Amino acid sequence: MGKNYSIKEVSEIFNITTNKVRFYEKKGLINPKRDMDNDYRYFTEDDLIKLQTILMYRELDIPIEHIKDIFTDESKDNILNHFHAQWKVINNQIHRMQLIQDSLEEIMDNIYEGENETYKEKIIKVIESMNEVWEIKNNWKDKWDFNSWARTYDKSVERDSGNLKFYKYYNDILDTTFNKSIKNKEKTIKVLEIGVGTGNLADRFLKNEYDITGMDQSREMLNVAKEKYPKLKLRLGDFLNIPFENRKFDVIVSTYAFHHLNDEEKKVAIKEILRVLKDDGRIVIGDLMFENQEEKEKIMNRLTKEEIKEIEDEHYSNIQLLRNEFKRYNRELQITRMDELVFIIEVN
Ligand SMILES: C[S@@+](CC[C@H](N)C(=O)[O-])C[C@H]1O[C@@H](n2cnc3c(N)ncnc32)[C@H](O)[C@@H]1O
Repeated sequence: MGKNYSIKEVSEIFNITTNKVRFYEKKGLINPKRDMDNDYRYFTEDDLIKLQTILMYRELDIPIEHIKDIFTDESKDNILNHFHAQWKVINNQIHRMQLIQDSLEEIMDNIYEGENETYKEKIIKVIESMNEVWEIKNNWKDKWDFNSWARTYDKSVERDSGNLKFYKYYNDILDTTFNKSIKNKEKTIKVLEIGVGTGNLADRFLKNEYDITGMDQSREMLNVAKEKYPKLKLRLGDFLNIPFENRKFDVIVSTYAFHHLNDEEKKVAIKEILRVLKDDGRIVIGDLMFENQEEKEKIMNRLTKEEIKEIEDEHYSNIQLLRNEFKRYNRELQITRMDELVFIIEVN
């Protein structure tokens, strides 16, 4: 039989108050035995290990209820789900803090440089625009439910059962995206794929021994990608809150994903993509697009009701809008048409 510890000893071992130990007991995270004679708690070595785990998880800010659930179901999948959820919370906090810091900087510059009281109006404007961006970053929802599509996605690409047949040249589009993205780039480059899905494009980089990280907002897509390509590095994250530091990647690629953002969201995403891209980096996006509004109207006029409905369920890009947006950051855009509705854009 191992040693038993009193609550006082436990609090000394972990350098925490006895109240804190009682708190975790009250929350049902630990369950020390009671001495029948005097009702004192006594803790076994297993209780100590559990308490140490609780304290470690609390260092990561994992909520009490989540820790409780991890203890109930210790499967790898459940633990990963909780760590991913926490990763997302922390990433969102970082993005929120960054927005606040940028706004404070802008406000301080204005106070230094502004005439008399004019800076007061400017402060309001900066805060309003900060809130607008935050709403866009925070409000994107996966209305297509990619989690439930993940397991059948590859099959549905093969079947291509939609009216518009936009997967007709799928492999060609992925090959071309890959080839364009590695043009003149060394093998040592760091590549990020956004909306990696089940990993079909990332696989082209892996096979050629490139350092690629796949990111997706869907946990289930990440699960499928990991099962198919165990060596693929994967992260949970979305276009609007990319979980990486500034200027980390040489190349950013994406296929069939950007059309899940509307025009306002695309503008915020472009800023995010450029933030994590190196100054001489390249972006290659293969996706559903129209060249401009005029082209869109021409094509839409020829389509059936069902086809129009399919298009309206997504947010096909207007290439002219993307071109203008990238121009604001002094970036040039080139296009390659792969099909009537599928283009590859390269941004250098
Ligand atoms: C149609 S699938 C394409 C998957 C893969 N790129 C391909 O070409 O087969 C779209 C993928 O983009 C992801 N996605 C959609 N919106 C996203 C967003 N805002 N941020 C990150 N990923 C997103 C979805 O979860 C899904 O895995």
